[in-house]
Amino acid sequence: MQSDEIRSRFLKFFEKRGHKIIPSASLVPENDPSVLFNTAGMQPLVPYLMGQKHPMGTRLVNAQKCVRTQDIDEVGDNTHDTFFEMLGNWSLGDYFKEDAIKWSYEFLTSKEEGLGLDPTRLYVTAFEGNEDAPRDEEAAMIWKKIFEDNNISGERIYFRPASKNWWEVGENGPCGPDTEMFYDLTGKLNKGLTLEEYIEADDKQELVEIWNDVFMQFEKKSGKVVGQLPSQNVDTGSGLERVVMAVQGKNNIFDTDLFKPVMDLIKSEAKNYNERSARIIADHIRTSIFMVCDGVSPTNTGRGYILRRVIRRAVMQMKNIGLENYSVDALVTVFSGIYASSYPELKTSQIAEVIEEEKEKFLLTLEHGLKEFEKGTDPFVLFTTYGFPIELTLELAKENGKTIDMEDFHKKMDEHQKLSQTASAGMFKGGLANHNDKTIRLHTAHHLLLAGLQAIVNPDIKQRGSNITEERLRMDFLCDHKLTDEEKQKVEAWVNDKIESELNVVRKEMPLVDAEKLGAQMEFGAKYPEVVSVYFIESANRQTISKEFCGGPHVGNTRELGHFKIQKEEAVAAGIRRIKAILE
Ligand code: SER
Repeated sequence: MQSDEIRSRFLKFFEKRGHKIIPSASLVPENDPSVLFNTAGMQPLVPYLMGQKHPMGTRLVNAQKCVRTQDIDEVGDNTHDTFFEMLGNWSLGDYFKEDAIKWSYEFLTSKEEGLGLDPTRLYVTAFEGNEDAPRDEEAAMIWKKIFEDNNISGERIYFRPASKNWWEVGENGPCGPDTEMFYDLTGKLNKGLTLEEYIEADDKQELVEIWNDVFMQFEKKSGKVVGQLPSQNVDTGSGLERVVMAVQGKNNIFDTDLFKPVMDLIKSEAKNYNERSARIIADHIRTSIFMVCDGVSPTNTGRGYILRRVIRRAVMQMKNIGLENYSVDALVTVFSGIYASSYPELKTSQIAEVIEEEKEKFLLTLEHGLKEFEKGTDPFVLFTTYGFPIELTLELAKENGKTIDMEDFHKKMDEHQKLSQTASAGMFKGGLANHNDKTIRLHTAHHLLLAGLQAIVNPDIKQRGSNITEERLRMDFLCDHKLTDEEKQKVEAWVNDKIESELNVVRKEMPLVDAEKLGAQMEFGAKYPEVVSVYFIESANRQTISKEFCGGPHVGNTRELGHFKIQKEEAVAAGIRRIKAILE
């Protein structure tokens, strides 16, 4: 079964069980200062897990694009990747453990509607309990019954600690115990396993996690469980790449149809092929493609820096196998073919151009770095100032019979990292569910700003990205020129006039087609479900000042905002401007 079919079977299976299919959100989180990229399917749904009503109802299903880079050094082994799709079904205060587990099992094993995986190769875990929540006997009992009913014998259910079987997204937000499903890739275990045997098989990557059902029923504040959520939710996540690997009988994701054509191309073009390098190139190029497609460009901070790092790591490996002069264009074309039916938007020449340009820049950096190396520049300076990787410095030193003081390098790196960690720690303060009064007010101001830019500067201005913290709002928008001082002052005055006019902010749910007909503002490039919520800002005589697709929340009346002030206007990329603004 091909990956396209697996994805669509998943969506159909849950659609048949009352779920509404929603599109993948962008990789770049909307109005969420706490993370750089969506790292799980549930992330864009946090407000709804916290109790807000979702316009599509209480049962949802989708395949969400995700990026996780914390295990980037593991990429090259059988299962790690930096981009992945997460198949997920959600219950927002609807069904709970029994149905969630039953359907997971059914989808994995049913030949007709699901994946037809061999049930005797399944092993599962449940939460062992701690001071936050009790041992999840209920989940274990449900599994026990399923295994018994299907004549699957032997020990297969393991209680595990919070480090394994508890899911949360940060210091603040929804959380709860989970039950994870593992599949025996070898087909040789063929029996029940003791806990020790299970752990060993997991370590050897003979067993791989293919699904996680989280029972979201608690809320954390400042890292502590403070109570139950308004309703009991289910958040499930299944990594598409791993499921495809299991279904296609491979022992690594790079042999599946999601990667194979690219791996073959790399193999045929490389001067000195090496499997690990090829895997890193394939993974990192794929991640770069999806990031660029969602509007990220290579820069030295934040998201852009992650993209830059991923591209540079790919180029290093291209160099390693003698592929550095090969244009990434061909690789991008093969990937866009693999994803043609689910992500047709990948088929654009601009994506390859952005990646190729960064690759060329890095090759020049490497050349400069080489000259600096020859001059005897400190490896730490080579790395931080010239972006020259330490592995390369070490290699060159070896060739030239020099030694590198790695202790000194690590000491300087540790200090450097401490500094940058403190700088980025602030980012996580707010947490995902940071819907406090300050961010809510800035969110409404954000809508007014977009309307103001359209009223004063150009009616065609489109939003391209946004980020709101407690302190300020930030909006990226498509615009062909730097705003003049006069334009900035006029936009500010326009927004403040609307604030002083005490306008009502009203939320309405409506079919996507109707909202589109109304001309409600959408984020450029984003995808929306069939029913959406739209926020209107209206004057007393019902004249609409602003209408935007948005999950909210917002203030009820603009009088709550105070005074609006633009702090900065700058360029972020060609044709994209950025405004930072505050409320005083
Ligand atoms: N949030 C859980 C995970 O990412 C299940 O979707 O594993």
